[in-house]
Amino acid sequence: MRFIQFGVFSFSLLSYLFFVSCQYVPNPRIGQSSALIGTKLYFFGGSPADVSPLSTPIGHPNISNDVFYFDLSNSSLFNTVTPTWYKDVEMPIGSLYHTSCVNPNDSAVFIFGGRQFLPNSNNLSVYSPVYRLDHNKNSWSIPNITGLNSTFANRTSIQAVIDITGKVFIFGGGRRSATGGDPSYYNDMNIFDITSMSWSTLVISQAPPPSYAYTATLLPSGIIVYIGGIDYISGIIPVNMSEIRTFNTTSLTWTIKSANGSSIGSRVGHSAVLNQNGDIIIYGGSENDTLGPQVFPDLAVLNTNSWMWSIPNIPSSNIPQALTAHSAVLYKNYMFVAFGVIASTGGTIYNKDYYILDTQKYVWVTTNNSVITTQGPSKIQGSQPNKAIDPSSNDGNKIKPLLYLSLFFYIYMFF
Ligand SMILES: *[C@@H]1O[C@H](CO)[C@@H](O)[C@H](O)[C@H]1NC(C)=O
Ligand SMILES: *[C@@H]1O[C@H](CO)[C@@H](O)[C@H](O)[C@H]1NC(C)=O
Ligand SMILES: *[C@@H]1O[C@H](CO)[C@@H](O)[C@H](O)[C@H]1NC(C)=O
Ligand SMILES: *[C@@H]1O[C@H](CO)[C@@H](O)[C@H](O)[C@H]1NC(C)=O
Ligand SMILES: *[C@@H]1O[C@H](CO)[C@@H](O)[C@H](O)[C@H]1NC(C)=O
Ligand SMILES: *[C@@H]1O[C@H](CO)[C@@H](O)[C@H](O)[C@H]1NC(C)=O
Ligand SMILES: *[C@@H]1O[C@H](CO)[C@@H](O)[C@H](O)[C@H]1NC(C)=O
Ligand SMILES: *[C@@H]1O[C@H](CO)[C@@H](O)[C@H](O)[C@H]1NC(C)=O
Ligand SMILES: *[C@@H]1O[C@H](CO)[C@@H](O)[C@H](O)[C@H]1NC(C)=O
Ligand SMILES: *[C@@H]1O[C@H](CO)[C@@H](O)[C@H](O)[C@H]1NC(C)=O
Ligand SMILES: *[C@@H]1O[C@H](CO)[C@@H](O)[C@H](O)[C@H]1NC(C)=O
Ligand SMILES: *[C@@H]1O[C@H](CO)[C@@H](O)[C@H](O)[C@H]1NC(C)=O
Repeated sequence: MRFIQFGVFSFSLLSYLFFVSCQYVPNPRIGQSSALIGTKLYFFGGSPADVSPLSTPIGHPNISNDVFYFDLSNSSLFNTVTPTWYKDVEMPIGSLYHTSCVNPNDSAVFIFGGRQFLPNSNNLSVYSPVYRLDHNKNSWSIPNITGLNSTFANRTSIQAVIDITGKVFIFGGGRRSATGGDPSYYNDMNIFDITSMSWSTLVISQAPPPSYAYTATLLPSGIIVYIGGIDYISGIIPVNMSEIRTFNTTSLTWTIKSANGSSIGSRVGHSAVLNQNGDIIIYGGSENDTLGPQVFPDLAVLNTNSWMWSIPNIPSSNIPQALTAHSAVLYKNYMFVAFGVIASTGGTIYNKDYYILDTQKYVWVTTNNSVITTQGPSKIQGSQPNKAIDPSSNDGNKIKPLLYLSLFFYIYMFF
């Protein structure tokens, strides 16, 4: 009898301990990257604490080295309070404003650039521009890369794309020196072949100016579409959203497309995905730094055949508060937007939630996951269709004259 009681007690205690030690709930954060591996939506790093640009020009407290995911094949994601998060092998460094991509053949993850720190500390780390997660060995390593350009060290606020042959393309970005001071800005195209582990840097005379904090989206035609961000030409200039920079990964040439349609406010810290119709959906961002202000419209759609911008008419239910320095990934026809800072709060409220946009019907199918919603994908099918857009709408254009001061903030927020 005693034995049985003891057994039951032990079992309960063990399951309690098991639950406590295994249940992982990520902190709110900015500047993480995310990637889809099969049905798993992965997140890498980020900063769970606000940045104090004036008092701590170099150190950020508690930069995360967490790697975690949730499984999108679990339909509970659409209707439960919180998803079940799973942890994977932590990165050797804490990092934010890096970029990641995945080898489609073996699901190995590559992390490029970013601001790197010793995990959960203020201290700058021993830096490698590239880290690789091998799922078979269950470990991170620094890959040996032929021809890695030394100026790529510490590149920040960049976005990589990977093509079907395993070539990674990374444009420009900025780089701070270890001692602070003025960052350097780049307009080179770095190409990393993950099959041969070789690196090359193209300096192209027709390239756009040095830029960072843009989004990069690879189209099936082999064209990379760069949207928004900041140019540095003896000062910072937000990229005009009518000017779409495209890079042909075959001819290795740049072409500027002039996008018409709705007027879209310039932005940094936004996200972009390509939906199944071939439209690029951009979401969120802020006018100048990650502390806001919010941009308008929150969400816009670029047709990559006609190069026309439009603003879908989205039902108000479940619309999240606009985020910046978040991340987004497309899964089937759903855009998953997660973390970041709520732009309208002046950078004071960090987000720990994810939101799901149906990119066919243009409805947000969840409210944030800290509140209970019983809405499931099946109910959404009957929702309001994508409303046509008024191309003459002028609401989006909120571009303001630049202040010299903003340079300071850009530097500290994104480098
Ligand atoms: C950093 O993490 C430590 C330990 O968890 C915590 O005590 C501290 O408050 C955190 N700092 C910030 C700024 O979040
Ligand atoms: C699906 O998610 C729910 C809610 O988080 C969780 O209770 C359940 O264990 C998950 N199922 C699987 C197969 O992971
Ligand atoms: C960070 O640097 C400080 C000052 O040099 C040192 O005292 C501290 O031990 C370092 N922390 C870690 C985690 O290395
Ligand atoms: C890189 O090369 C060095 C020296 O050849 C070797 O010791 C190291 O294991 C290699 N790293 C990887 C990740 O292959
Ligand atoms: C994946 O495998 C295919 C077929 O072996 C090959 O053609 C392709 O280059 C590989 N891609 C990468 C990224 O290694
Ligand atoms: C990159 O940053 C590290 C600190 O993380 C610093 O030690 C190093 O000097 C920097 N390298 C370059 C090329 O700026
Ligand atoms: C390395 O990158 C810099 C900056 O873009 C460029 O000027 C230089 O030519 C590159 N070096 C090589 C060997 O490609
Ligand atoms: C962006 O470019 C378009 C087309 O050239 C122009 O009409 C618009 O005024 C520009 N916006 C800003 C803020 O410069
Ligand atoms: C990209 O360049 C190649 C080689 O010049 C050309 O054949 C192809 O049509 C271009 N792609 C697009 C979408 O323009
Ligand atoms: C957008 O309008 C400009 C000015 O009217 C025109 O030159 C350009 O070709 C148009 N772009 C497209 C993709 O239609
Ligand atoms: C998520 O929901 C909670 C509770 O309604 C709300 O306080 C919070 O502001 C929401 N977060 C975002 C990013 O919308
Ligand atoms: C950002 O823009 C807002 C509105 O245009 C302005 O009030 C604020 O001072 C700007 N912040 C910086 C750092 O430039």
